Amino acid sequence: MSSEQQQDSTAMNGEQNGDNKEKEVITENGESAAVASEPVADGENEPPKKEMRAVVLTGFGGLKSVKILKKPEPTLGEGEILIRVKACGLNFQDLMVRQGAIDSPPKCPFILGFECAGDVEQVGEGVEDFQVGDQVVALPEYRAWAELVAVPAKYVYKLPKGLSYLDAATISMNYAVAYMLLFEVAGLTQGKSILVHSVGGGVGQAVVQLAKTIPDVTIYGICSKGKHEALKEANAPVDHLLEKGSDYVSELKKISPDGVDIVLDCLCGEECNKGYNLLKPMGKYVLYGTSNVVTGETKGFFSAARCWWQVDKVSPLKLFDENKSLAGFNLRHFMYQQNGAAHVKDTVQKVFQLFQEGKIKPLLDSTWALEDVAEAMQKMHDRKNVGKIILDPSLEPKPKPATPAKGKDKKKQSSEEKKDNDEKKEDKKEEKKEKEEEKKEEKKSEAATNGTGEPAAADEADPKEKEHSS
Ligand SMILES: NC(=O)c1ccc[n+]([C@@H]2O[C@H](COP(=O)([O-])OP(=O)(O)OC[C@H]3O[C@@H](n4cnc5c(N)ncnc54)[C@H](OP(=O)(O)O)[C@@H]3O)[C@@H](O)[C@H]2O)c1
Repeated sequence: MSSEQQQDSTAMNGEQNGDNKEKEVITENGESAAVASEPVADGENEPPKKEMRAVVLTGFGGLKSVKILKKPEPTLGEGEILIRVKACGLNFQDLMVRQGAIDSPPKCPFILGFECAGDVEQVGEGVEDFQVGDQVVALPEYRAWAELVAVPAKYVYKLPKGLSYLDAATISMNYAVAYMLLFEVAGLTQGKSILVHSVGGGVGQAVVQLAKTIPDVTIYGICSKGKHEALKEANAPVDHLLEKGSDYVSELKKISPDGVDIVLDCLCGEECNKGYNLLKPMGKYVLYGTSNVVTGETKGFFSAARCWWQVDKVSPLKLFDENKSLAGFNLRHFMYQQNGAAHVKDTVQKVFQLFQEGKIKPLLDSTWALEDVAEAMQKMHDRKNVGKIILDPSLEPKPKPATPAKGKDKKKQSSEEKKDNDEKKEDKKEEKKEKEEEKKEEKKSEAATNGTGEPAAADEADPKEKEHSS
């Protein structure tokens, strides 16, 4: 059994065995709530195991399920590397994992995170290319958001000179994904045009910077209006910024009536059909995310079904007639389920090379203490990040506003707190609205599928037609 598996079973069975001595150190309000706990020991004669702080998902759902807990330090298995973590990357995928909105997630509780950079503290048996003290970045399958993590060597990459832990955690996953999307899946060449969704985010900015290493590429980028000013100042500005939620198809067609050569879609749902229809002949549409599945703080039961339902089922004959291609890319499946680790390692080296040549510059949104992970996740939920969000285990948590006392002091509630409360109320309203919409969608789907779960007549129908027919 590898140490990863051992950790898994500790996490899953620890409580039943009575050896789970984890203790919560910080509540979700940021208040210290240390619980006395005995040192963890495997047997009578063994010394107690050392502990570390980790971001643990205690159950799928909202931000309250994310806790900072003391966990036993990981033990090293064959072929693994123990990393002392200095910076962790927050990815949209982590939001989906928290909600339980991805395929085959592990059982709770488990340590979150797919990306971290730090120092090699120990090298397992059979590991040849790494030494204690090496500076590395890693893309493990979960467990990255802790002070220490044991990672199979195939998912670990040595940092080149001049690349800090912070920069490494900012670029590794996002730029490897962007590189593979642009140059391997979509086949970007000189003079082509690309439509990019969520262009202000981690992958979005990586796509823009990498695409701009090719001459005469035109980028149409869609994102929330609030990011447009910041993106105009970014290292590689987008040629045409379009607003999320606007009629971007008409806007784009005003500029380029023939459409675009490449569509990179990380949203899914109705954006798939729009993207496909915007392709020029010989164009390629690539699906690489399903962000539209996330509607509120917790998993929307029908949002995944809606995403599926809204996507046209395109026949190869249609592709043949129209000279268009469809493709998909999923790094997580490629690395952990489809033997793609060596391929990804090569890609990360290419990204590091581009960094050293000064062709890419990481765009950092913000860094947060582990204890502030809920706030960091909320910022991404609120669509406010421009570039990458990083967690830094060495940072002190932000001071939390004191809970207002009852009576007189209540009146002294600061305007910031009031604003905060107003925003939360707005969020709740939004969530309620989304839930109502989901219910309506559910009714529509049920009517259209006659309760079978399969569409009555799905092939190549316009989404509006579907609405009509239902
Ligand atoms: N296929 C792969 O291997 C792979 C790997 C990494 C990431 N991805 C995908 O790439 C996309 C971007 O990932 P990232 O990690 O770089 O994150 P990110 O873009 O930094 O994510 C945050 C941004 O996503 C946008 N967004 C779209 N739908 C949203 C929703 N329902 N709720 C909140 N925000 C939403 C928001 O920007 P705007 O409002 O400005 O649009 C938000 O600021 C995600 O879909 C992710 O799943 C895929």
